[in-house]
Amino acid sequence: MLDAAPPVTPQPESERPNLGNRLMRRKPVEQLVAEGGQGDGGSLRRSLTMWQLTMISIGATLGTGIFVVLGEATPLAGPAVAISFVIAGLTALFSALSYAELAGSIPVSGSSYSYSYATMGEVIAWICGWCLVLEYGVSVAAVAVGWGEYLNELLDGTIGVTIPASVSAPLGEGGFINLPALIVILLAMVFLMGGAKESARVNTIMVVIKIATLVLFCAIGFMGIKAGNYAPLAPLGVTGISAAAATLFFSYIGFDAASTAGEEAKNPKKDLPRAIMLSLLIVTVLYCLVALVAVGAMPWQDFEGTEAALAQIMKDVTGHSFWGVVLAAGAVVAIASVVFAVLYGQTRILFAMSRDGLVPKVFAKVDERTGTPKANVVIVSLFCGVLAAFIPLGELANATSIGTLFAFALVNVAVVILRYKRPDMPRTFRVALFPVTPILGFAFCAYMMFSLPGKTWVYFGGWMIAGLVFYFLYGMRRSSLATAEK
Ligand code: ALA
Repeated sequence: MLDAAPPVTPQPESERPNLGNRLMRRKPVEQLVAEGGQGDGGSLRRSLTMWQLTMISIGATLGTGIFVVLGEATPLAGPAVAISFVIAGLTALFSALSYAELAGSIPVSGSSYSYSYATMGEVIAWICGWCLVLEYGVSVAAVAVGWGEYLNELLDGTIGVTIPASVSAPLGEGGFINLPALIVILLAMVFLMGGAKESARVNTIMVVIKIATLVLFCAIGFMGIKAGNYAPLAPLGVTGISAAAATLFFSYIGFDAASTAGEEAKNPKKDLPRAIMLSLLIVTVLYCLVALVAVGAMPWQDFEGTEAALAQIMKDVTGHSFWGVVLAAGAVVAIASVVFAVLYGQTRILFAMSRDGLVPKVFAKVDERTGTPKANVVIVSLFCGVLAAFIPLGELANATSIGTLFAFALVNVAVVILRYKRPDMPRTFRVALFPVTPILGFAFCAYMMFSLPGKTWVYFGGWMIAGLVFYFLYGMRRSSLATAEK
């Protein structure tokens, strides 16, 4: 379907670009699309349907945020936490529209990294890709840690034992190693080494289980709602609602995951935009329902210090620990599926960056038998596994959010640039009310970023500096555009 990349003509010495031009060099949309699917030694296989793409996005999205972070955000906002979910969802929605437009026009696997490369130039693309490592790679580690909490809840409810802290927490948090987090990542690695089609099947099964668990929670929790729990609605005011929204934004991260599967989709131009929008819709409706039921069934003050709050509500409402165990089992599957889908996304983003020469070539090597970037999967999984096993991750959820918001902000800018620079380019999906929607998308992202604590900004600053150092030492010279200029 796609032809080989067009050859790039070397430039004469006198026309070699200066530093500014090198940082701003852009990769033409046509070249990005033409290179799509091609890796080192083989091509990715196009096997994913619209439904499977939607499942990848839901798989990457619905997990720790609703099962764990909801419990942390409720004490910040009170019953109005449901409104915080709507605000965080709106931020996601505006950006999702921009993602949908770009994914339909540039259907490659690099997601916002590739969109930035086509519109804002190499150094911005690099920064975006580096933020995506926060969104995907680091969040895998954060999510895997949340998995351990529900695993313990499940083990406690079924066989009456819990994993001791010494092997379920990293150094500095009362243990030596977080084994559950490491194990779930290694399990995901094994599945991801199979083909994309097989991975998508496993993912779909897990997604169906997690949606069913949350629907069950709503049905049971509904019976325990007491109207008095909703009053006062916003005891901590607008500030509390904003702070909770910024924290809860984490629960929406991942809706863009379908855009990392552009080169494995059967009909990417049509299906990617649909999958992104559909997954966001399904997830938002579920989140708001779950939040309304949860704060109706348990006084908001009781969320403070309650681990596995949703399981607790199931137990309290029914009076049977069995239902708490069912919820914990659903959460274990749900969070494992986030690890799986997000890990998938990270490998595909690095695949695109590697093909562009910005990270080592090993990330673009395709295994002939499975048609997947096997070495890439192993390296990324081991990196995330070590991070999750040994590093205290308390702050990671927020660091992940700030990186994601930055990448989303760039996507909103990219839509505007592409509309002005390439107005006639075929688009299978167009953002409504242009340019108001992407501008609002950008503004919401900025607002959410500034609602995050100062400490998160310090981590983010450190992360960005490390990324720029890597770019100047490695990517700037080795990028395929730079090589073509020599
Ligand atoms: N949105 C993902 C989760 O909540 C990261 O687990």
